[in-house]
Amino acid sequence: MSAILRVGIAGLGTVGCGVVTLLQENRDIIHRRSGTDIIVTAISARDKNKKRDIKISLDDIKWHDDPADMAADPDVDLVVEVIGGEDGAAKILVENALNHHKPVVTANKALLAHHGGMLAKLSDEKQSPLYYEAAIAGGIPIVKSLREGLAGNQIRSIAGILNGTCNYILSEMERTGASFEEVLTQAQALGYAEANPSFDVDGIDAAHKLSLLSALAFGVEPNFDAIEINGIREISAEDIQSAQTLGYKIRLLGQAEYKPDSKSSGTYKLHQKVSPVLVPKDHILAGVTGVLNAVYICGDYIGNYISVGAGAGQKATASAVVADIVDYACGATNRPVFSVPAKDLTRAKPAATEALNLRYYVRLNVLDRPGILADLSNILKNHNVSIETLIQLGRDPDQPVGIILTTH
Ligand code: HSE
Repeated sequence: MSAILRVGIAGLGTVGCGVVTLLQENRDIIHRRSGTDIIVTAISARDKNKKRDIKISLDDIKWHDDPADMAADPDVDLVVEVIGGEDGAAKILVENALNHHKPVVTANKALLAHHGGMLAKLSDEKQSPLYYEAAIAGGIPIVKSLREGLAGNQIRSIAGILNGTCNYILSEMERTGASFEEVLTQAQALGYAEANPSFDVDGIDAAHKLSLLSALAFGVEPNFDAIEINGIREISAEDIQSAQTLGYKIRLLGQAEYKPDSKSSGTYKLHQKVSPVLVPKDHILAGVTGVLNAVYICGDYIGNYISVGAGAGQKATASAVVADIVDYACGATNRPVFSVPAKDLTRAKPAATEALNLRYYVRLNVLDRPGILADLSNILKNHNVSIETLIQLGRDPDQPVGIILTTH
């Protein structure tokens, strides 16, 4: 490994600026750890003249109007892609860089969730490493945990708080009693939300990350389309309050479970879903608040393992990007992208939710008339659904009242 590593950064938004700043501020310690002086030699972004919070002069760095040009730039040894987006400039750049045998570090979960299988194959074929620690759970080193620390385990299940914006919204609604809309506005002002907040609140961002966790944990191709997705848009202050009454907190969880299809077939089913879940209030995931993310893993030898940390924000994401650059500088270049060589990635059979035995929380607004509860339990009885708890919220003969119930 040369003593100098020349890095090209594509995308100079929040994360790109964070990477530039971290590499500059911690240059000495990074040099001591990696034995390499890591310097930014090229940058590509939409507008060179935009005012940015970085201390380096862009005049001293090569500027590419088209990020794809960075792939062939002889002054760039490693490409950092922090443009974002599942297609377009980010995809072209990553493919070009791998084709030019250049290592790539990306924070782009959408790109990998949709094209991860193809890019892993390209990376293997060109023997050009593809790193993506920042794509899952922000600053938490979960790729390294799964691929290295837990490499000896058969992973059984994963449950993660994978979207900082949603966790911030849910825990702030819990803390203050404010509405979903009010807290979303705050989250946007704090810079946690994606450019398109629908990706956060509709569960898409969490599903991108879950597809990558499943790939790492179970040796499957990322398969975003197999994930059932429900976001948090419809959760009201009343739901938060009702959950508290029942002894729970609401968290948006990405969950994956890998189970033998049948006792003898040797095939597996993978169930993946993102949805709001009632978590018992003394469960470790219920204590994860604010913009934090958490990944809870169950493996056959490790048992239960949890990692908690900042899941969004400039510094945490830059921390993960730079960890990957340092890995490359230290010579960690031959780890398979998703734990097994790309040619061996399987496509697990998706399992249908109906096949799982789950408990549900239901909130209804009903007219407070005699017989309503009897009608309700009859409907549920006819569908073979058994009620565990049923609470009527208040009494008002003139207005609909809330009824909350949980099923067995
Ligand atoms: N918008 C994401 C979140 C951060 O709120 O978790 C980047 O993945």
